[in-house]
Amino acid sequence: MTAPIIRTLPELRKLTAPWQRAGARIGVVPTMGALHDGHLSLVQAAKEHCDHVIVTIFVNPKQFNNPDDLKNYPRTEEADARKLARFGVDALWVPDGAQMYPEHFATNISVQGLTDVMEGAERPGHFDGVATVVTKLFTQTQATDAFFGEKDYQQFLVVRRMAADLDLPITVHPCPTIRDIDGLALSSRNLLLSDRARTTAPRLIEEMEALSQGVANGESFATLRDAAEKRLLAAGFTDVEYLSIHAQDDLSSLQAPTRPARLFAAAWLAGVRLIDNIAI
Ligand code: PAJ
Repeated sequence: MTAPIIRTLPELRKLTAPWQRAGARIGVVPTMGALHDGHLSLVQAAKEHCDHVIVTIFVNPKQFNNPDDLKNYPRTEEADARKLARFGVDALWVPDGAQMYPEHFATNISVQGLTDVMEGAERPGHFDGVATVVTKLFTQTQATDAFFGEKDYQQFLVVRRMAADLDLPITVHPCPTIRDIDGLALSSRNLLLSDRARTTAPRLIEEMEALSQGVANGESFATLRDAAEKRLLAAGFTDVEYLSIHAQDDLSSLQAPTRPARLFAAAWLAGVRLIDNIAI
């Protein structure tokens, strides 16, 4: 059964009010659509944990720092609704821009510290946009549980920090990264890769795995990183924005995994920006 698509806040409130009165667990899976198996794994986790599940689709202009990226972002609402049919979700929350940000909207949620590095440093304003829209999605849906992918590990940490700091009564659950058979992390932006670029793209995770292995064997991270970056550029990547180790809890920069850590990367291939991260 395809889930009802809800586009206005009064309709959404009508749906959730009886769930709340019954003390039900309401799960939310925020997305920007163009759904793939990574998104669907979050939906599956939500179904397992919660009495009711709402999937949200909103391509949030506030988190795009590049107008072309916003313009080119894939929009596939009908196919998305079809993909969700087999999960039996309760609703698709698909607000439009005016519903989310009415005239005179003037509030910004900004998380400090965690946003100083990586995506926060490379994409000014991005996490303010994410934190602001996710706060709204949480309060709109009245969810008790939210499901986020480790694919965007920094985003997960930022959202969890925001929810705790604002005393939002919601648990933010991390879910593992889903990959294609060749290792490439699933991403809506992969749709924008040419066939040729798609065959090159898994080089990123291959280099990350090798780097992680080398570091585990006690080799110098800086030396390994420089060599990996050179190979990625030789393979056709046009820029490696970062390839760095950060502590898993507060994202402080590390030269070696002296505490629980992850290896993070962002790199450009054929006009598409790929990001990935793995535990090391
Ligand atoms: P979007 O990129 O559509 O991702 C929605 C959710 O799916 C995020 O939690 C993301 O981490 C997760 N996800 C994406 N690819 C994944 C994969 N390969 N494996 C597991 N999970 C994956 O992230 C956003 O949208 C937006 O910033 C949003 C949170 C919706 C706010 O606008």
